[in-house]
Amino acid sequence: MAREFSSVGVVGLGTMGAGIVEVFARNGIDVVAVEISDAALERGRTTLTGSTDRAVARGKLAEADRDALLARVDWQVGLDALHSVDLVIEAVPEHLDLKQRIFAELDRVCKPEAILATNTSSLSVTEISVATTRPNQVIGIHFFNPAPVMKLVEVVRTVVTSADVVADVEALCERLGKVDVTINDRAGFIANALLFGYLNHAVGMFESHYASREDIDAAMKLGCGLPMGPLALMDLIGLDTAYEILDTMYRRGGRDRRHAPVPLIKQMVTAGLLGRKSGRGFYTYERPGSPVVVPDEQTPVATGSALADGARAIAKVGVVGSGTMATGIIEVFAKAGYEVVSVTRGAEKSAKVCEAVKTSLNKGVVRGKLSEADRDAALGRVTWSATLDHLADVDLVVEAVVEELSVKKALFASLDEICKPGVVLATTTSSLPVIDVAMATQRPADVVGLHFFNPAPIMPLVEIVQTIRTSAETTATARAVCAALGKTGVVCGDRSGFIVNALLFPYLNDAVKMLEASYSTADDIDYAMKLGCGYPMGPFELLDVVGLDVSLAIQRELYLELREPGFAPAPLLEHLVTAGYLGRKSGRGFRDHTNR
Ligand SMILES: NC(=O)c1ccc[n+]([C@@H]2O[C@H](COP(=O)([O-])OP(=O)(O)OC[C@H]3O[C@@H](n4cnc5c(N)ncnc54)[C@H](O)[C@@H]3O)[C@@H](O)[C@H]2O)c1
Repeated sequence: MAREFSSVGVVGLGTMGAGIVEVFARNGIDVVAVEISDAALERGRTTLTGSTDRAVARGKLAEADRDALLARVDWQVGLDALHSVDLVIEAVPEHLDLKQRIFAELDRVCKPEAILATNTSSLSVTEISVATTRPNQVIGIHFFNPAPVMKLVEVVRTVVTSADVVADVEALCERLGKVDVTINDRAGFIANALLFGYLNHAVGMFESHYASREDIDAAMKLGCGLPMGPLALMDLIGLDTAYEILDTMYRRGGRDRRHAPVPLIKQMVTAGLLGRKSGRGFYTYERPGSPVVVPDEQTPVATGSALADGARAIAKVGVVGSGTMATGIIEVFAKAGYEVVSVTRGAEKSAKVCEAVKTSLNKGVVRGKLSEADRDAALGRVTWSATLDHLADVDLVVEAVVEELSVKKALFASLDEICKPGVVLATTTSSLPVIDVAMATQRPADVVGLHFFNPAPIMPLVEIVQTIRTSAETTATARAVCAALGKTGVVCGDRSGFIVNALLFPYLNDAVKMLEASYSTADDIDYAMKLGCGYPMGPFELLDVVGLDVSLAIQRELYLELREPGFAPAPLLEHLVTAGYLGRKSGRGFRDHTNR
């Protein structure tokens, strides 16, 4: 029969502990909440009342239920108060020696049958367990931040955790309304092992001024649909905690350089910039503990006028190409009121592109998103041509031809001859160096990358890629154009993968490596990222949608340019591509799609 948990203890009421108290108390379980001092106890209590008051204000919790919830919590300083609880969850800072000391003490204080659990993110549960005389009753219960919201719990069993204890904790998770995945004791478990390399990489981008904090975060939110950007997430996790997790993962996880904490993190921790909890991290918050970001000296100042930033006026736009991206981009510009000249390599191709744009606009009309008059006006703004000469008087050219450097270079050389001076020449390349294309012209200062996402009419993000030769006016023009299109333009340097792909694909590749190592299943890994981190799709779902061949090609590019050993494509990914398992498009990738 499953064990009854009528009272539990939570040790450490910081970012995680206070949330864990709420999870138990909400589900009718009595909680003894323990801190190290009265002041820390008060902080934990304030966090809990703040959170439950917000739930009441939002109509998610009745006042009476809030009062009952709060009455279930017994606030205490010191571990001695835990003598009669059935389970303890420890959520003190991520230091092995501290956790071991606490577990030795818990072993002494708690009743013999009590389960002792740690919420550690990266330390070895096994090493923590051997500080007690009951390692078979020690387990990892890893909640996600914020604990009351995130559905996932990683249950971590060591080689000595008894099967009963695992089953009892799994049943408890279900009672708490959580989804659990049970895994072995490995640094970072599932979610953090996949998350922290990405977070550290994003901090590295910020540290090296590759892109601004706002642009890095907007890129991942809008380009991948993530609930928050990586730097905002670092602030939520807490930079001190994130540092310790990275440091432990580096040491325990095979000294992967991608987990060696970016030096800026340590500097910020030393300076007391811990994130939300201290009121300042990558962003500045209204006050310590507040989720509300307030402007600071790094907040971009809106001048109110793009022309004041040196942006050039753009009225007429040339779009070169006849594929999916070109078609979408023509539609985007025409709908936004620009005159558009579409150039393809022949009348037949032009007719096809014209038809595709019409079909897409008509869909907008059917869905009630576009009036017939606006559709006709948009189409009326486009002229269809098969010769580049018609680009002589445009203000901006967007190139969206095949992803081959020689073809793009030849095209840019032609554009250089045809276009009037002062025109901004943009490439939509997603993997080639923009500088190579720029140097095919005599005017590299006017060349910029405009990386639209597919489908262009829907995706809100554009990466604006500036090379070392791109002028400030060109970048300002690109920004102004993106704003006029109703898109968010994020500016970044000219490196493989720009922002989104450079941060996304190594994470996907890591998921494949995790599967290959048989640490977990594709289903559990997908669950972990969706329910633990709020990702819209798990890595294997996304790989099957993007295409394994496309993913492999991008990962290879990243590896070749950055020479980062951890970016080496997962052998399993290569094998699947070789076998023709390319994802949805071929009917099979990580999953079989033929019967779905
Ligand atoms: N922050 C996250 O996003 C996150 C997510 C999942 C798991 N975790 C893990 O949860 C644990 C706690 O992390 P956090 O971010 O909540 O840390 P935190 O710094 O926000 O809170 C730690 C709390 O522990 C208290 N504490 C320290 N020593 C104590 C003692 N001897 N007895 C009682 N209380 C003591 C501190 O006063 C503090 O309030 C870590 O193991 C971390 O890896 C963190």
